[in-house]
Amino acid sequence: MGQVDRAFLEEVGLELVYDYGLLRNEQETNIFKEKMNQIETDGFWGFGNNYALTLKHMKEHLPDVRTVVDIGCCWGVFSYMFKDYQYIGVEEDREICEKDLFIRYYPHHQYVAGGFPYANPGGDVFIASMSLGYGGTLYHQKDNPEVINLFLDEISRYKYGYIKADKWVEDLIAERFEKVETIGKVKPVKIRNVIHNLGDYMGFWKRKDM
Ligand SMILES: C[S@@+](CC[C@H](N)C(=O)[O-])C[C@H]1O[C@@H](n2cnc3c(N)ncnc32)[C@H](O)[C@@H]1O
Repeated sequence: MGQVDRAFLEEVGLELVYDYGLLRNEQETNIFKEKMNQIETDGFWGFGNNYALTLKHMKEHLPDVRTVVDIGCCWGVFSYMFKDYQYIGVEEDREICEKDLFIRYYPHHQYVAGGFPYANPGGDVFIASMSLGYGGTLYHQKDNPEVINLFLDEISRYKYGYIKADKWVEDLIAERFEKVETIGKVKPVKIRNVIHNLGDYMGFWKRKDM
């Protein structure tokens, strides 16, 4: 693997990936490069640190977990980190789904095209990194009690969740899950009079009936 510029990783928010030794290997890099030629982006690839924090915590605290569902996985750029798991990405973006822009690093990984809660493969753990409530199905239907109930029933098919989302999404999830801890560091930032919790962190949640 070539030398990675630390300043560059910090600039794109991937320094934890470096700290935890979670950079792509050569084969994964080639798969990424091949796919990136088909993807149009202004440079946004996602939040690698959230995945690095999640993976480290999961390995240390949940040794029995097998199936990890990444709700709002986008292209699945960081799915390579979950090579030891049955990783399933769920994504509703039309272009990604129609053009099949998912980055398939490993044959045992799967991708489901659709919006959660309508699309839900189920598993041991879900990850929702800056996805639930940021536009998309849940956001547009948040005043529809039927969709909210469906959301709660579908999310309850998981035992654990790693979540970074706005407070209203957390409040909703809190009906069925309890927050065990926050991993990483929250940096509250005021943007147009609204406090947004930024920084590299993920909430670790556990279903209440367990
Ligand atoms: C800001 S990106 C974050 C991508 C990735 N999770 C990460 O942290 O790098 C949010 C993605 O979540 C997807 N998304 C939002 N709500 C969703 C839902 N209810 N079901 C499936 N995908 C959803 C969006 O289409 C978008 O691709």
